Amino acid sequence: MPSLAAHIPSVPGSGIRRIYEIAAELDGVISLGVGEPDVPIAPHIAEAAKAAWDRDDTDYNPNGGILPLRRAIVDKLATDNEMDVDTEQVWVTIGGTQALHLAMQLTLAAGDEVLIPDPGYTTFTMNARMLDARPVPYSLMPERGFRPNIEELEALVTPRTRMIIVNSPSNPLGAVFPREVLDELLAFARRHDLWILSDEVYERFTWGEPHLSLAALDAQSGQDAGGGIERVFSVFSFSKTYAMTGIRVGYLVTPSGMAATLRTMQEATISCAAMPDQFAALAALQGEQEHVAAAAAHYRANYRAASAALEARGIRYLEPTGAFYLWTDVSHASDGDVAAWAERFLVHERVAVAPGSAFGRSGEGWIRLCLAATEADLLAGIARLPARGDTSPAVHSG
Ligand SMILES: Cc1ncc(COP(=O)(O)O)c(C=O)c1O
Repeated sequence: MPSLAAHIPSVPGSGIRRIYEIAAELDGVISLGVGEPDVPIAPHIAEAAKAAWDRDDTDYNPNGGILPLRRAIVDKLATDNEMDVDTEQVWVTIGGTQALHLAMQLTLAAGDEVLIPDPGYTTFTMNARMLDARPVPYSLMPERGFRPNIEELEALVTPRTRMIIVNSPSNPLGAVFPREVLDELLAFARRHDLWILSDEVYERFTWGEPHLSLAALDAQSGQDAGGGIERVFSVFSFSKTYAMTGIRVGYLVTPSGMAATLRTMQEATISCAAMPDQFAALAALQGEQEHVAAAAAHYRANYRAASAALEARGIRYLEPTGAFYLWTDVSHASDGDVAAWAERFLVHERVAVAPGSAFGRSGEGWIRLCLAATEADLLAGIARLPARGDTSPAVHSG
């Protein structure tokens, strides 16, 4: 057999998928591992997809997505994100996942370096490696409220650094960066002429700290203030907001002037997203949003129940201000190898959790619990976690 491209073996597997696959072989598993909303898809969204199938709207369509959807996204970006863009800056993708890949493919050549959050979403590293680029982790530590440290970032920059990935609200931490942190990150990127890839797929789930879009701040404060986005690619998705994970629709928003290139790249990789899926996304944007608010309230109620249960058992966690995860400290039990511990915990206790080390080195000793579950499952899962013997404070605020 001929060999694969030399860099491909360096693409790491996903530590979350590994747990998911073991869990699939077992009976009676409580699933708190993957980021899957437990709420059903809203009926009007499903109806729109069915109607598209019935009309035989199943053809090839524009590389950037169907025009009504792109226009609805432009309106949503103006209303919700203070982003003033035109349809040619919006590219409908196969989930946020493909949008991430597309932006990295556009900007990173072999050997280029990209700064990625640690802990951070697994595919940031996987995509960098797939492109033969070098992921360079920057840490988000509890003692700094899980915020980036600009001095550390400065020290990580080399002549090969091309991009920084920012994920707020964050997976796995649930941290939402306030305005001053985003301003600092923008100033840092400008100092070194870096691209920013802003992953905002959890934009609709925040508590206390409002979600702000880096691209809006970029356009407001760039050299040509008010003149448009200069250096930010933004990734959005329908998956988490509308409980549409398996429908696979997201979008990438780019600075202007890239449409011809994007069209070619989409043509060569996916051609276009499926039309019924895009009609589902259009219905999601145009329909009532109460079901999104209800899902957010459900995740928040779950947080309150889960955090009380953890505190009662002396288990430490990070208080999230966004997304639907609970970053939980099991270092008292995991013995320096939380990935192995999570596998044993799954097999013996029948609870699937995401091991923190799957998100980077600084996740060692932590697990990520998904709050988008039933309260009964969450509490049953937490009841099986090993209690902490000491009396140190249970909450890190971040
Ligand atoms: C931070 C982050 N970005 C992007 C994605 C990709 O989501 P999707 O491809 O379903 O839109 C996820 C999914 O878990 C995520 O957590």
